[in-house]
Amino acid sequence: MSTNNEEMVVTPWEVSGKIDYEKLIREFGTQPLTPELLERIARNAGELHPQLERRIFFSHRDVDWLLQRYENGEKFVLYTGRGPSGPVHIGHLAPWIFTKYLQDKFDAKLYFQITDDERFLYHDNFTMQEPAKWAYENALDLIALGFDPKKTRIIFDTKNIDTLYPIALNIAKHVTFSTAKAVFGFQESTNIGLSFYPAIQAAPAFLESALVGHNVPCLIPAAIDQDPYWRVTRDVAPKLGYYKPAQIHCRFLPGLGRGGKMSASLPETAIFTIDPPDVAKRKVMSAFTGGRATVEEQKQLGANPDICSVYAYDYFLFMNSKEIEDLRYNCLAGNIMCGECKKTLAERVEKFLSEHQQRRERAKDRFQDFLFNAKDF
Ligand code: TYM
Repeated sequence: MSTNNEEMVVTPWEVSGKIDYEKLIREFGTQPLTPELLERIARNAGELHPQLERRIFFSHRDVDWLLQRYENGEKFVLYTGRGPSGPVHIGHLAPWIFTKYLQDKFDAKLYFQITDDERFLYHDNFTMQEPAKWAYENALDLIALGFDPKKTRIIFDTKNIDTLYPIALNIAKHVTFSTAKAVFGFQESTNIGLSFYPAIQAAPAFLESALVGHNVPCLIPAAIDQDPYWRVTRDVAPKLGYYKPAQIHCRFLPGLGRGGKMSASLPETAIFTIDPPDVAKRKVMSAFTGGRATVEEQKQLGANPDICSVYAYDYFLFMNSKEIEDLRYNCLAGNIMCGECKKTLAERVEKFLSEHQQRRERAKDRFQDFLFNAKDF
């Protein structure tokens, strides 16, 4: 795998280089979200989420099929997740915030998988305690976003393995090692736990169908790095008599540095949900922007929002459409300086974090209400 700065790498474990989303659509064989499809989502949902309007969610598979069934009265379940290797950063929150919109608007049940097994297997230096600790901490972030406890079930792989295992076994039997190698880039040196793991991540896509005894459509909202799992899952689905799960893919919230996605492995350029708000503020104030070398130059020539991490945060999470339009205009026209933008974002991030952290504290009392229990079926 290349780590060359410019060459694009998008796998479930590495995202680097300059991301060309059009190319990903071609290479991964997904479909762009067209204006017609957006209009159809809006018609069913009552309103379009800003992440759709702004094409942060930009690609899909079978969302048209899913909506057809929905329009004919068939409900679907949502499925998404988290690999608990450390604290959640606000990039992870983007697809979860969108998932909440889908839950609310489509009255959909959500299965949320926490892959403590994947993270134990992937990180050479992890004991099983590390992912177990983060599994709980990360679940609090999900709950803090306001998901409905009656309609949301969190699956912890190592705890709920009795439910997942029979489904995963059926999946695994239909995936050859040569497919797994080609899709995930496994090497001779990869541990055998990781080579089985994709069957565990595929399993929740069929969970509702397996539990209720008839096919239920499933939609997976996630960033596009998780797509290799769904390619394998979709190939296997008809062999097991299940519907293929549909996907809707989002872009990556960049880090605060120059280029690259927000990543926990670069903590100075990532805003974690558990960062003290003043620490997050300091990170924002040192962010990379699209500004010019001098104030004079910027006033004359304007700055470049398209490479600016501060603009990206406002665009992804912190500004409404009117605000973002004004900001873009003023940035390009040289009417606003980067210091001002950073300050505005820092204030919004501080406010968001202090509110999120309060909700996260309250989530501790509600944690039990979200746990998956096979006895509910
Ligand atoms: P993980 O923990 O790497 O990522 C959790 C979710 O966050 C998305 N994501 C991002 N979205 C926007 N901007 C970013 N910078 C960014 N970084 C990560 C990921 O696409 C993911 O949706 N193996 C998975 C856990 C998992 C899962 C799933 C994810 C299990 N089942 C079903 C999605 C759907 C993982 O380690 O995710």
